[in-house]
Amino acid sequence: MSVQRQLLEILMDGNFHSGEKLASSLGVTRAAIWKNIKILESKYELDIHALTGKGYRLSQSIELLDSEAIIDKLTIKNVIPEVETFLSIDSTNRYLMKKVLSADLQCHAVFAEQQTSGRGRHGRSWVSPFGGNLYFSVLYPFQRTPRDVTGLSLAVGVAIVEQLEQQGIESAKLKWPNDILVNGRKLCGILLELHGESHGPFAIVVGVGINISMPENAAREIDQPWVAYQSLTQTPISRNQLAASFLSNVLLALQEFERDGLAPFRERWLQRDCYMNSKVKLQLGDREITGIARGIDQQGALLLESQGQVQRYYSGEIHLRPAK
Ligand code: BTN
Repeated sequence: MSVQRQLLEILMDGNFHSGEKLASSLGVTRAAIWKNIKILESKYELDIHALTGKGYRLSQSIELLDSEAIIDKLTIKNVIPEVETFLSIDSTNRYLMKKVLSADLQCHAVFAEQQTSGRGRHGRSWVSPFGGNLYFSVLYPFQRTPRDVTGLSLAVGVAIVEQLEQQGIESAKLKWPNDILVNGRKLCGILLELHGESHGPFAIVVGVGINISMPENAAREIDQPWVAYQSLTQTPISRNQLAASFLSNVLLALQEFERDGLAPFRERWLQRDCYMNSKVKLQLGDREITGIARGIDQQGALLLESQGQVQRYYSGEIHLRPAK
């Protein structure tokens, strides 16, 4: 374990710890402690108070994500042999996409406290500051090509919204294909990446970003209306518990989709469609289509009624927004 991780594990309680004690617990010099405190401040933008005679303390206590704690709290056992946690990574999706080429492909999940190049849909970036939110990806090998990949991303959206409902957040709704919004503000984004042959074994990486508690300075970088989980609930949050609950539900959804496709999810998706029967604008490259959203079909394609006709739209560069 890195000195920075060990140091954080001691400081995460938010209490003062003397440089001397930190140095002896970690088996390094006090100068090394000071150097690593500076790295924690600059790399992760952590606010650490230093007081002569008292030592160092984090301005706010945090619960670091921990692989063993997450595995222990999973409600679905024996599906995922590997759960990794990183303090910092470029992107959890990118990390797992590099693994899809390995010979013995296994189900694998990765969480990070910070992403330095978090990826969003349509080539956007996903703002991923340290320690507040959830960023995770799941690599899942399919025995055969999923019948419809759009459908798969919708199923993952349903899994996340249902988990939010179980936690008392009833106002979370789905925007096609898989954004999760609360009163028009984005709470969660899902990014699916695929690798494989059209008829052979197939692996997908499902990436999920959920705003839990967003630091103000990071929030300024977000270019769309957003909301954070913490503002929607009075219940104290354990990040490891949340991580395990969302991961469990995503794994269940992947298993269910592999077995039965979109069918068991379609009605559940429609019940949570935030634009059902509303006037919307669909951007298809340069083209803009205004119509009434009529939900999704059996494959997960968007149904849009325009000039009395219902058309289907599949995944692609499609942006959906309410029309005035
Ligand atoms: C979106 O644009 O709505 C999708 C955002 C997906 C963000 C998550 S965070 C974890 C995973 N790793 C990434 O780089 N992106 C996804």
